[in-house]
Amino acid sequence: MNLLKVPMNIDELKSVATAIVTKPKGLLAADESNPTIKKRFDSVGVESTEENRRRYRELLFVTKNIENYIGGVILFDETLRQSSSDGTPFPALLSRRGIIPGIKVDKGAKPLALYPGEKVTEGLDGLRDRLAEYKQLGARFVKWRAVIEIDEHDVPSSYAIRTNAHALARYAALCQEADLVPIVEPEVLMDGAHDIGRCEAVTSQVFEKVFAHLDAHRVLLEGMLLKPNMVLAGKKCPRQPSVQEVAEATVRCLRRYVPAAVPGIVFLSGGQTPEEATAHLNAMNAMGSHPWELSFSYGRALQEPVLSAWKGKESNVEAAQRVFFKRCRLNGLAREGKYSPEMETTDQ
Ligand code: 13P
Repeated sequence: MNLLKVPMNIDELKSVATAIVTKPKGLLAADESNPTIKKRFDSVGVESTEENRRRYRELLFVTKNIENYIGGVILFDETLRQSSSDGTPFPALLSRRGIIPGIKVDKGAKPLALYPGEKVTEGLDGLRDRLAEYKQLGARFVKWRAVIEIDEHDVPSSYAIRTNAHALARYAALCQEADLVPIVEPEVLMDGAHDIGRCEAVTSQVFEKVFAHLDAHRVLLEGMLLKPNMVLAGKKCPRQPSVQEVAEATVRCLRRYVPAAVPGIVFLSGGQTPEEATAHLNAMNAMGSHPWELSFSYGRALQEPVLSAWKGKESNVEAAQRVFFKRCRLNGLAREGKYSPEMETTDQ
C-alpha cells in the first residue's frame, strides 16, 4: 500500500494508539448504552436517570491518581455531552488529567437476517458525519463491537464471521479517514458450554477474517488497537481451564493471527470476575515480552465492585473511588506481570 496516497494523519493515529497503551496503562470502558447501564444500576438498586448516570460517571472520572493506570476512557454518546458538577465537559476534564477521551459509535448487535441465533452490528450509515461531530466534541479514538456467539451446532457460521469482519473494517477505515484511532472489537462470547479448544478455534477464524478485511480496507495497523476476548471455556463448560492455560491459549492464538504492527491489544472482560480478568492479564504479561502491548479495556471487571460500593449514595462515593483505584492499580501491575492474588486482600 502506498501510504502517501491514503488521506489520514499517520503520525497522529500512531501516537494516540501508542499513548493509550503505554505501560502500565489501559482503558476504562464506561460506554454502556442506556439499556445496559440500567441493568447495572438495577443490580444495585439505583434508578437510571440522566443525572444518576452523570453522577456515577463523574465519580469514576475524578477518582484521584487513576491517570497513572488509565490511558483513555470509552464514553457513550450521552456522557460525551455531559459535564462534571462544576460545569467542566467530561472530555475536557479527562484530557486535562492526561486521559484520552474516546467514544463508542456502533448502534448495537442486531439479529442477522436468515441466520437464527447470530448477530451483526449496525451503525455504518451516516457514520462519517457522526465521527466528524465526535471529533469536534473531543473524542480521539473510537470503538465498535461485533458479537460472535458459539453454540453446540453450527453457530457461528462463516458468513456471520465474514459480515461482522467486513463491518469492523469499514468502520475502522472511516475512523482513520477522520484521524480517529479505531478500536476493533470482535467479541467471541463466553456464554454456553463450549470448551476452551472451541473458543480458540472460533477466535482464530475471527482474527483471520478481521485482519483480511482490515487489509482489504487499507486500514493502518499501526494506528489501531484490537479489543478481543481472551480464549476461555464457556461459562457452563464443566471443565474450566487454569489461569495458565487461558494465558497460553490466548497468546498462542494472538501470535498466530495478529500482526506485530498492531501496537496494542486491550482485552475486554466479557463476564469474567474482576479477579479473574486481572489474573489472566497478569499471566500473559508474565510469559515474557510480546510483539504488542497486552493491556485491558475492561467494563464490568473495573466497575462491578465500584457500583456495589456506591449504590447511588453520596456518602459512599469515597469508598467507591477507593475500590475503583485499587482495580486500576492491580490491572496496572498485571500489565507488568507483577500482580498476585494476595494483593486482593492486602492492597487497600
Ligand atoms: P466488559 O469488560 O464488561 O466485557 O466490557 C467491555 C466492553 O467495552 C464491551 O464492549
